Amino acid sequence: MNVVILAAGMGKRMQSALPKVLHPLAGKSLLAHVIDTARTLSPTRLCVIYGHGGDAVLSQFTASDLVFAKQEPQLGTGHAVMQAVPQLDDAVPTLVLYGDVPLTSSAALQRLVSAAGQDKLAILTVELDDPTGYGRIVRDNDGKGDIVSIVEQKDATPAERAITECNTGIMVAPTAHLKQWLAGLSNNNAQGEYYLTDIVASAVAAGTPVVSAQPDAVWETLGVNSKVQLAELERIHQRSIANRLLEQGVTLLDPARLDVRGTLTCGRDVTIDVGCVFEGIVTLEDGVTISANCVIKNAHIGNSASIKPFCHIEDATVGAASQIGPYARLRPGTTLGEDVHIGNFVEVKNSQIAAHSKANHLAYVGDATVGSRVNIGAGTITCNYDGANKSRTIIEDDVFIGSDSQLVAPVTIGKGATLGAGTTLTKNAPPGTLTVSRSRQVTIEGWVRPVKIKK
Ligand code: UD1
Ligand code: CA
Repeated sequence: MNVVILAAGMGKRMQSALPKVLHPLAGKSLLAHVIDTARTLSPTRLCVIYGHGGDAVLSQFTASDLVFAKQEPQLGTGHAVMQAVPQLDDAVPTLVLYGDVPLTSSAALQRLVSAAGQDKLAILTVELDDPTGYGRIVRDNDGKGDIVSIVEQKDATPAERAITECNTGIMVAPTAHLKQWLAGLSNNNAQGEYYLTDIVASAVAAGTPVVSAQPDAVWETLGVNSKVQLAELERIHQRSIANRLLEQGVTLLDPARLDVRGTLTCGRDVTIDVGCVFEGIVTLEDGVTISANCVIKNAHIGNSASIKPFCHIEDATVGAASQIGPYARLRPGTTLGEDVHIGNFVEVKNSQIAAHSKANHLAYVGDATVGSRVNIGAGTITCNYDGANKSRTIIEDDVFIGSDSQLVAPVTIGKGATLGAGTTLTKNAPPGTLTVSRSRQVTIEGWVRPVKIKK
């Protein structure tokens, strides 16, 4: 089928320089939500009608399956669809979507498409307690209740305004007919616009059957016109993600205090405490515990690992049974083996740390390759940057690094080596030995503290 996404509206009520359809919901723009849903229907043509903030919209969507058509000026929803006419293949039906209605499910669209078949006009409708502002679905009262027209709020009679079945704006039409009906639209109405909804009366007049389908939930059809509505839809969407996780058996201490901005995949017996944000693609294997207030982006957390409160993890892999935090930061390129402990105020970047190694307090491990069973003492810093270039630190298996050491890269600490506390390591430390670099401790006998001189 052809899909046309209407996204030319300016969204004045968003009070923002960013075009409305580029505002993010769950970390993804409204328009990207609609495009992704449209793609689940495998359309042959996918056409976006843009207008306001055109360049910003175009630069964000460069995939080759998209065609863009500019609508300027914006003379109504019918006029918007007219801009797509040259792109539409007559042999298949056309589905019209709105770029600011982000949460319509693929299932609801599929029902609508099936209802339309090849030769019917199908409209996605909803029953609303408060239909104010919506186009009303007018059905005949000959008992069959066939749809005869859609009347806009501003053009409706009091009797029509009492109708609670509303037009969501989403519809499927046989394309050759659609083109004829669009060509026949006039703007002789209360808003002086070319209404897409007027094609319904044209279809009825032409003897084309008009049918309807309904979504599972009203929120699937809600549009975003303001930050208030955006925030409401964000909560609805997050709650439905949380419900899906709960149904899969994930323990959420409070499903209202979870944010997933991407794809979160969880194994069995995963527990997530409040205030956590998951971005990009995150996988939590069986038995993982995420404590409160963690931000985790593009990460893989292994079996039974425990992420304690207030951790920030990005582009990282955490091995099984590892313990991270509280207050740890794993930066891009971090790969931790099994049973690794990264404690409070430890930052790891672009480093591999093998099984059973520990950096429990106040350390920076950057551009390092760390073996197994290594103990990195408190205050240890890899000096990986000389102001111009980054260099690597190699720490072999079973190394013990005393507290407050600086490892000036490039440098290697051999297997089983020990560094005394306070060492500034500038040359390789041989395996199996103790290396220490600090001035010898002396005690000055008879020394007295200065005393304050009275003036
Ligand atoms: C439209 C429908 C109404 C329906 C309601 C659902 C018409 C005439 N009315 O009304 O029956 O109940 O949606 O929300 O179709 N757009 C363009 N170019 C334009 C005008 C609009 O691209 O010239 C886009 C907007 O960006 C938006 C969508 O079309 O994504 C709907 O426009 P909007 O002005 O919100 O439509 P309504 O007047 O609310
Ligand atoms: Ca409007």
